[in-house]
Amino acid sequence: MSSDFHKERRAWFQIKHQIVGTYLSLFLGKLGKAGDRVYYVDGFAGQGRLDDGTEGSALIAAKLAAEPIQKSRKGLLHCINVEVDPATFENLEKATAPYANCVRNLRGTFQDKLPEILKLIGNHTAFFDW
Ligand SMILES: C[S@@+](CC[C@H](N)C(=O)[O-])C[C@H]1O[C@@H](n2cnc3c(N)ncnc32)[C@H](O)[C@@H]1O
Repeated sequence: MSSDFHKERRAWFQIKHQIVGTYLSLFLGKLGKAGDRVYYVDGFAGQGRLDDGTEGSALIAAKLAAEPIQKSRKGLLHCINVEVDPATFENLEKATAPYANCVRNLRGTFQDKLPEILKLIGNHTAFFDW
C-alpha cells in the first residue's frame, strides 16, 4: 500500500480523535451538570492505540473519564468499548486496564452486543462512536 494512503489515514484519525476528544469533553461538561452518569460507546474500538503508538478513541475517552477537564465531572463518564478481533481485544484490555473502574470492554460485534449495551446504559445519556 502506498505511503500516501498511510499518511492520509493517519491525518484522518488525527482529525477524528481531536473531534472525539473535544466533543466528548463538552458533552460531559454539559450533560454531566446534574451529576448523572453518561456513557461513551465505542462500537468499533480497536486496540486503544494506533499502530504508530498514538492514542486511539478508546484510550482518549478512558483518560477523559479518569481525568475530566472539569474536575466536578470525575466519575460520571463510563466507557463501553466493543471489539470483534480477539488479538485486538487483548491489546484493548491491556491499554485500558489502568481505567478499569470507568471502562467496560465487550468482545464481539457491535451488532451482537447492542442489546447488552442498551441494558448497561439504561436511561442514561450516551454518545455513540461507530
Ligand atoms: C479503525 S479501527 C478502530 C479505530 C478506533 N475506533 C479509533 O478511532 O481510534 C476499527 C476496529 O473495528 C473492529 N471491528 C470491525 N468490525 C466490527 C464489528 N462489527 N463490531 C465490533 N468491532 C468491529 C476492527 O477489528 C478494528 O479493530
